[in-house]
Amino acid sequence: MKKRILTGITTTGIPHIGNYIGAIRPALELANGSDESFFFLADYHSIIKNQNIDEIKHSVENVALSWLSCGLNPKKTYFYRQSDVPEILELSWVLTCVTAKGLMNRAHAYKAASSINTDDPDKGITMGLFSYPVLMAADILMFDSTHVPVGSDQIQHLEMTRDIAARFNHLFKPLLTLPEPIIQKNENVVLGTDGRKMSKSYGNVIPLLESKKNLKKSIMKIVTNSLEPGEPKESTDCNVFELYKYFATESEIQTMQQSYDDGISWGEAKEILFNSVNQELQPIRSKYEELSKNKDHINDLLSDGAKKARLIAKEKILEIREAVGLSKIL
Ligand code: TRP
Repeated sequence: MKKRILTGITTTGIPHIGNYIGAIRPALELANGSDESFFFLADYHSIIKNQNIDEIKHSVENVALSWLSCGLNPKKTYFYRQSDVPEILELSWVLTCVTAKGLMNRAHAYKAASSINTDDPDKGITMGLFSYPVLMAADILMFDSTHVPVGSDQIQHLEMTRDIAARFNHLFKPLLTLPEPIIQKNENVVLGTDGRKMSKSYGNVIPLLESKKNLKKSIMKIVTNSLEPGEPKESTDCNVFELYKYFATESEIQTMQQSYDDGISWGEAKEILFNSVNQELQPIRSKYEELSKNKDHINDLLSDGAKKARLIAKEKILEIREAVGLSKIL
């Protein structure tokens, strides 16, 4: 069977280096190694939590721009906005009708939201949040995806997708492909400048797309211990070293290890780290600057992607309509 990978990209904020290492880079590597790949901007998902219209609009553009700058090739990958493929919503409803409410009651995101409530367990919980996993299942099942790269927080959603697909197949016709998750291991491990998980909310991110100067500034800000130059340094659990490993070759890492043993100064170590990060990010930055000049082009590109994806989605939704006894006229 053909390997078809698919992943949804949440459209919040501008990606930082943690997103790049943990999600963007591995997803693009996977895309290169698979027969077909589908990457989409999950904007139907984004309206569940966010009612800020401007923010949603710009996030979609910025995130699309970031992925393209990092090397996503829209000629080889189906790259589209989720909301440009309305068949996904139609499938989502059909799946809603075969999904047990009890299954959704167990979803982590929903449970987390209701657990902070005291008097009314349903306070602040929309049907969008509750049904989130069904929409995600529709994203995946619409295109017969075989492999879905996700962070470990999404494994439960993949299991639910498989459950829902199996239920549909059992009740109607075996039309839906059960996907396998591909767990991205790097996730969570990328640390920010203060040693905590890199996250916008901690203010400890290293930027991906900002100027060389800002990149350097934030790398120089990485917190280290107070060992003096000349004193041997530990590489385990060292923030600088950990980050370096993501960008350096095996032999560069060994050389760095030697320098640590020999007592390299933190200033020098950070300088070496900066140079290797910058070498990788330089072309990404240039591409970003070039693409930013023409945002219409991005929108055209996404529309083209949706057109291609819809050819597949339309055919599939007709089969599904027929299987459940609905009219095939669209
Ligand atoms: N829920 C995913 C996340 O938060 C995003 C997403 C939406 C997704 N639909 C998807 C991921 C389908 C993989 C497949 O990261």
